[in-house]
Amino acid sequence: MPLVEVESVSKNYPRRAEAGLGFHQQDHFVVNAVSLTIERGETLGLIGESGSGKSTLARMILGLVEPTSGSIRVAATDIGGDRTKALRRQMQPVFQDPSAALNPRMRILDIVTEPLIIHRREAAIDTSHTALRAKATELMRSVGLDESALARYPHQFSGGQKQRINIARALALKPQFVVLDEPVSALDVSVGAQIVNLLRTLQKENGLTYLFISHSMPLVRYLSTRIAVMQHGRLIETGDAEELCAHPRESYTRQLLAATPELPAARL
Ligand SMILES: Nc1ncnc2c1ncn2[C@@H]1O[C@H](COP(=O)(O)OP(=O)(O)OP(=O)(O)O)[C@@H](O)[C@H]1O
Ligand SMILES: [Mg+2]
Repeated sequence: MPLVEVESVSKNYPRRAEAGLGFHQQDHFVVNAVSLTIERGETLGLIGESGSGKSTLARMILGLVEPTSGSIRVAATDIGGDRTKALRRQMQPVFQDPSAALNPRMRILDIVTEPLIIHRREAAIDTSHTALRAKATELMRSVGLDESALARYPHQFSGGQKQRINIARALALKPQFVVLDEPVSALDVSVGAQIVNLLRTLQKENGLTYLFISHSMPLVRYLSTRIAVMQHGRLIETGDAEELCAHPRESYTRQLLAATPELPAARL
């Protein structure tokens, strides 16, 4: 059974439109009847132009935005149901802006262990100082940072390092599923490539399932087992990554492929 099942999901926001006698409300489909599945251990790459609805779809899967219609199940459990808190442990987001999710007044130790404290009861987590410190050290190492990072504050790190800290925090609760919404778009290409390689290693080590959102076809292709293409709120094409790149069916997919020449492998 797929880990994630999205069935005919739509999101409308009301939009004011001028019409004959004045204003009326018109539905604006930001996500329009999208169905997709994500298998355990795979990376589904989601690509499409700005405003096509990628982040809205990701937020609905994470349970942060309620769909207007349709259903979403993760690990066979309906999102939005009573068990959402247990499910939230199983899925974690990493967003584009590495600074936005890091409280500037918190030390890295407190940032990466915060999810453990929030979920300590339901997940029976040992939150003694020694246990948290050991866990935080292990998390830092897993993302290529040193234990000395724990006593410092976010502003003391570069963008790439901050994104490593965000990844460490996302992994604190040992989730099954990580939603990566343009995790390297705000970083330099070479720094982003290192982060993408880290994500790949972490996936192998922890058996993670990814939804990887990006504007960059080379990056999506590098990381994904399957690719889904979104345009104007609709999923227009989905397929095996290599197959879709070799034989795109839709002209929009061909445009995306033509617009982004392959990155030399050495840069990844
Ligand atoms: N809360 C909201 N209220 C009204 N409209 C919204 C809201 N959130 C998103 N939208 C609109 O939904 C559309 C899709 O937005 P979304 O952020 O999902 O796109 P995206 O594919 O992630 O774009 P980008 O590549 O720029 O991140 C946009 O037109 C956006 O303006
Ligand atoms: Mg987005």
